[in-house]
Amino acid sequence: MRVAIVTGASSGIGQSAAIQLAKRGSGVILTYGNNHSGALETVESIEKVGGTAVALPLDVGRSETFPAFRASVVAALGDTWHRDTFDSLVNNAGFARMAMFEDTSEELFDGFMRVLLKGPFFLTQTLLPLLADGGAIVNTSSNSALPSGLEPGYSAYASMKGGLDVLTRYMAKEFSSRGIRVNSVAPGSTRTRLADNAFERFPEVIPLLAAKTALGRVGEPDDIGMVIATLLSEEGRWITAQNIEVAGGYNL
Ligand SMILES: NC(=O)c1ccc[n+]([C@@H]2O[C@H](COP(=O)([O-])OP(=O)(O)OC[C@H]3O[C@@H](n4cnc5c(N)ncnc54)[C@H](OP(=O)(O)O)[C@@H]3O)[C@@H](O)[C@H]2O)c1
Repeated sequence: MRVAIVTGASSGIGQSAAIQLAKRGSGVILTYGNNHSGALETVESIEKVGGTAVALPLDVGRSETFPAFRASVVAALGDTWHRDTFDSLVNNAGFARMAMFEDTSEELFDGFMRVLLKGPFFLTQTLLPLLADGGAIVNTSSNSALPSGLEPGYSAYASMKGGLDVLTRYMAKEFSSRGIRVNSVAPGSTRTRLADNAFERFPEVIPLLAAKTALGRVGEPDDIGMVIATLLSEEGRWITAQNIEVAGGYNL
């Protein structure tokens, strides 16, 4: 059985990607930060569609914990799937906070850097020996790093996502010798728990964002999760080093 690892799958885009991968026949190792009950909810949804999932805690901002995480992955692969490798990795965990350039503290900048850029870099490095030849990776970027998604208040966040877009291409180049494909998705505004559940706290922004979106609504987690699962599947086998905007035509 194929096995995928999805980081940040206790809610939102990662939760959807984990369920969509399970629906396509993949076992899933999913990670969570603080939201253990959300992770259990994801496991339950996967089991409901006949899949198998294991939830593991992981702080993507603390690279010193990655070797211990790899040991947990090895144990889960052996115990649950009788395998010593996995097939797909989704570097999805992340957080956002709006801050104008003048108000961005070094602490916030460093937090974005650790979670959004350094985390995916070194987590992938740590897990790469376990990723099977012919496997695939999707990094969750953001349309804030593209001209079409540029809005004030995201200079530090989007700079890290832009770095992730470049990293995606370098990973694709270097891992191609093992047949491993690497792509990123660039979601637009998507109704998740991002930014301390901003969509629930400020529902008045939803119609404003919908009005700027050609397809006339904000994104839902499955809009992105289905693309991630497709890129990782057989259907995506000739796609590598791409950053796919998944934003319903934001600012089109
Ligand atoms: N929603 C949007 O509009 C949008 C647009 C563009 C890009 N994105 C990107 O999409 C990705 C997923 O976000 P989302 O929108 O689905 O938001 P979400 O519902 O808040 O989910 C974020 C996930 O990341 C996890 N996470 C956050 N910080 C972490 C850390 N330091 N270590 C480990 N896990 C961590 C969270 O875990 P816990 O809650 O368990 O702590 C949660 O599972 C992020 O990379 C985000 O930047 C989102």
